[in-house]
Amino acid sequence: MKVLIVENADLVAQMGAEIIRELVDSKPKAVLGLATGSTPIAMYAYLVQIHKLRGLSFKEVSGFNLDEYIGLESDSPQSYRSFMNRSLFDGIDIGLNNTYLPSCGYEDDFNSVASEFENTIRAKGGIDLQILGIGRNGHIGFNEPISSLSSRTRVKTLRQDTIEDNSRFFDEGEFQPFQAMTMGIGTILEAEHILLMATGLEKAKAVRDAIEGPLSAMCPASALQLHKKVTVILDEASAQELENKNYYKWVNEKNKELEAMVSTGHTRGNSCMSEQL
Ligand code: F6R
Repeated sequence: MKVLIVENADLVAQMGAEIIRELVDSKPKAVLGLATGSTPIAMYAYLVQIHKLRGLSFKEVSGFNLDEYIGLESDSPQSYRSFMNRSLFDGIDIGLNNTYLPSCGYEDDFNSVASEFENTIRAKGGIDLQILGIGRNGHIGFNEPISSLSSRTRVKTLRQDTIEDNSRFFDEGEFQPFQAMTMGIGTILEAEHILLMATGLEKAKAVRDAIEGPLSAMCPASALQLHKKVTVILDEASAQELENKNYYKWVNEKNKELEAMVSTGHTRGNSCMSEQL
């Protein structure tokens, strides 16, 4: 894993947006895996700015969201479809027909919705970059603790702590879904590159368990340790409990020194000289 620790949440958002910009710039037909929640909102706002001010086009980009609630109409303001339209899609030139969420209602056949979602990912050539936030309980997508580390897209019943965390998006007395369809951990691990972002002290324990803890279904995000290319961007608060925090910072300083050595001609360098993931 490449663990980058920056001063604040705004820098996390900027760096995340820059990684997406680079990908879309070099691969206009990029396939993005997208997340909802508070963490990526500022990064999406930066992408809208980059589109408007610097002309980055998303016309040929496809987006697959990690999850969607069951029991809400897709035009409900709390659905993840509405969230994505509001936070990103309405502000860029992506074709809405190229955006996919694992949306299904109680009347639908869950298994066929899930396999169609996965088949569409495959038909697009797989996900180039998967964006992830992390739950306080270590979930990624809605893969709650003890989810199978090789799970595929399916319906999950949310844990009470997840429902409490997300109750801030619902008015009192309003129906709040307790189930969602989510990409599985196995599905997520098939992405070419995974970008996990976390901010705030309340995520510090989950971040530590994900990066340094044992590989365990009790912390679904720890499955990322199995992936060959994961970038983690953290603010200082969410990095607070990392035992090796200083080492990660040191590695990044050394990588910068190497880059400087190459740019001043001290060494020739090559594409694989900086820290491997
Ligand atoms: C969202 C998702 C979740 C969130 C996680 C963190 O699509 O799949 O795993 O990333 O719950 O949420 P926030 O960012 O609101 O703290």
